[in-house]
Amino acid sequence: MAISVSHYGFMPDGKEVKLYSISNNNDVTLQLINLGATLQSLYTPDKYGRVNDITIGFDSLYGHLNFTDYQGKVVGRYANRIANGSFSLGGKKYQLTQNEKDKTCLHSAGEFSDAVWDAIIADDNAVEFSYTSPDGTSGFEGNLTAKVRYTLTEDNKVVIEYSAVCDKDTVMNFTNHVYFNLNGSAMSDVLDHEMQMNASHYVPIDADSIPTGEIREVKGTAFDFNAPCTIGKRIYDNDEQLTLARGYDHNFCLSHKEGEADATVKEPVSGRVLKMYTDLPGVQLYTGNFLDGSVVGKGGMPIVKHAGFCLETQFYPDSPNQPDFPSCVFKAGEEFKSTTVFAVSVEE
Ligand code: BGC
Repeated sequence: MAISVSHYGFMPDGKEVKLYSISNNNDVTLQLINLGATLQSLYTPDKYGRVNDITIGFDSLYGHLNFTDYQGKVVGRYANRIANGSFSLGGKKYQLTQNEKDKTCLHSAGEFSDAVWDAIIADDNAVEFSYTSPDGTSGFEGNLTAKVRYTLTEDNKVVIEYSAVCDKDTVMNFTNHVYFNLNGSAMSDVLDHEMQMNASHYVPIDADSIPTGEIREVKGTAFDFNAPCTIGKRIYDNDEQLTLARGYDHNFCLSHKEGEADATVKEPVSGRVLKMYTDLPGVQLYTGNFLDGSVVGKGGMPIVKHAGFCLETQFYPDSPNQPDFPSCVFKAGEEFKSTTVFAVSVEE
């Protein structure tokens, strides 16, 4: 195991952004930057031993600051959407920043993703980031301190541990928005990747990508990944839900089967396999539908439609307005705690 830190860049206000690299003995390297507590890159060997970065994003701070679609970033205090940017809690109505279509609050208007977090090397294989959101930011109440600890293990797991506490009652939902492409380059999209996910239901959305409130069975639809299927096989099916989102951009309700990954993704040519484990109730499968090639990413490659897929582990979107969804409300002083693991391996 080896860990190092180097200069990555300066923010417009002069704050320094640093790059943390953790390598294990199997040629796996995890890189992190403290802007957005970002998972900057994950280098892993393919079945021939060739090592590539399996995440889509930017080589420089310039890209992160000017073109981001949340590549690799931590999102909080409420990841995903809140309808009309408002919700009520304890009889009080909160109005949040409406950063999507002047209507919806998406990813809490990027507050945690755009912040420069404090960072410490917590172990020879771990970095811990922390950030405090002042009371009232983006319309949320309460001073909230969040910590995100990334660990790379010798059995090739990236462990992401989130913890957060607020001094007032609030809603919380933290995720990481990393886009994976197991080819190891954005040269080809992820439609040939094979996905398996233990989820019997998903959450349909309306034209603003807000949950309708229904929790729908995946059975017999393009959303059934209980048996492995390529991401691309049904993505252009004549299904209103896929048309509305231009592909997959939906919350899946995880079945959490004992001893099994919640999702497994395989890329047949490289032989790379990614397994995702989480203790949260849902995951947003987002297939990069709004990426359009107009932005240049790592290695000078345009970030094309479906260049990566995200597995954003989460409470269901718009939970603050959906009484039947698992609750994302945390009392003052009550800790939000959650772990998501991405495990990499190869298969012949
Ligand atoms: C959302 C997408 C959005 C993307 C980038 C995802 O979490 O579900 O609709 O385009 O984030 O903001």
